[in-house]
Amino acid sequence: MVDLKPQYHRIKPEIDAAIEEVLESTQFIKGPAVKKFEDDFARYMGVKDIVACANGTDALQIAMMALGYQPGDEVITASFTYVATAEVIALLKLKPVLVEVNPDTFTIDPAAIEAAITPRTKAIVPVHLFGQAADMEAILKIAAKHKLHVIEDNAQATGADITFRDGRKVKAGTVGTVGTTSFFPSKNLGCYGDGGALFVHNDELAKKIRVVANHGQTQQYVHDEIGVNSRLDTIQAAILNVKLKYLDDYALRRQQVADFYDAAFKGLAQVQTPVRASYSTHVFHQYTLKINGTNRDELRNKLSERGIPSMIYYPIPLHLQKAYRDSRYKEGAFPVTEQLCKSVLSLPIHTEFEPGQLEYIVENFKQLVQS
Ligand SMILES: Cc1ncc(COP(=O)(O)O)c(C=O)c1O
Repeated sequence: MVDLKPQYHRIKPEIDAAIEEVLESTQFIKGPAVKKFEDDFARYMGVKDIVACANGTDALQIAMMALGYQPGDEVITASFTYVATAEVIALLKLKPVLVEVNPDTFTIDPAAIEAAITPRTKAIVPVHLFGQAADMEAILKIAAKHKLHVIEDNAQATGADITFRDGRKVKAGTVGTVGTTSFFPSKNLGCYGDGGALFVHNDELAKKIRVVANHGQTQQYVHDEIGVNSRLDTIQAAILNVKLKYLDDYALRRQQVADFYDAAFKGLAQVQTPVRASYSTHVFHQYTLKINGTNRDELRNKLSERGIPSMIYYPIPLHLQKAYRDSRYKEGAFPVTEQLCKSVLSLPIHTEFEPGQLEYIVENFKQLVQS
């Protein structure tokens, strides 16, 4: 699905030198590469402050801790997402309130958000899924009307642009109260281990986030609140400093792969190619088709026999997962999400295809769905 080795080899001298510099410095924790990355990435994202942390799940948890939610407070998020989004809500003893997604963009449906708001609602967590932003203009309007925070889960859409109706262009992840991301190796901006970050505009909130992420420590050995230990290693920051320079190029390569797939599958009745929202660029963290009238598991097996990997993101909706069972949400509660879980199929997408590989994938894919 993702070929990280040739990507590393293309930038190996720079990466190896950056890692060696950290090794020689022995500043493995909070070394200068971390601050440099936070500053350079903040400039790229157009956000005042970035706080790096250990992974994207921690970033979500730290955001909710810093915003001071109390047990029982309600947090609205999408029913079709990776488990991490709901996991941190539940871990903090907050109440996850799931809402339906748009069948075309797969992102949270603003009308469904509005219907789920109660007096205990504190925040909306839109997920910018598969490389494309949720409808932030509509979500921000709802949040302002009901005085709610917006925590953007931007683990999958680093680098995507949102264009507002007035023409203002911003990076996904930077328009809510706080945004979060993941640098998991397969992400659009991935490090060589775990990593994450929070995007913040407000100085007070940024300060609080830094305290929460550092054991709740306000001065050395002074802890005014309970925090967590969540840091981006200096080696990972040094790697990200190299890879940040290539992020836009990586997005372009992914978009070229998506264009190739779109053109090859045009008019193929058995699939619906990804819909690109008018308000967001799509940086194609995943290339996800909807399959109609073909047995998806059989198709995956046959693709696999021909050496073509495919994945289902995500096979089971959150509300039907054992850990998140809730009497509020029975089977049938989220028909769009449930249908997506039955019909989506992601094909390989990354920055390093060799000549002929994409042709091989589309030829075989078309043959199999038409047979
Ligand atoms: C939508 C979403 N949110 C959060 C995360 C969590 O990120 P991490 O794996 O870095 O903890 C992921 C990672 O896959 C994700 O896809």
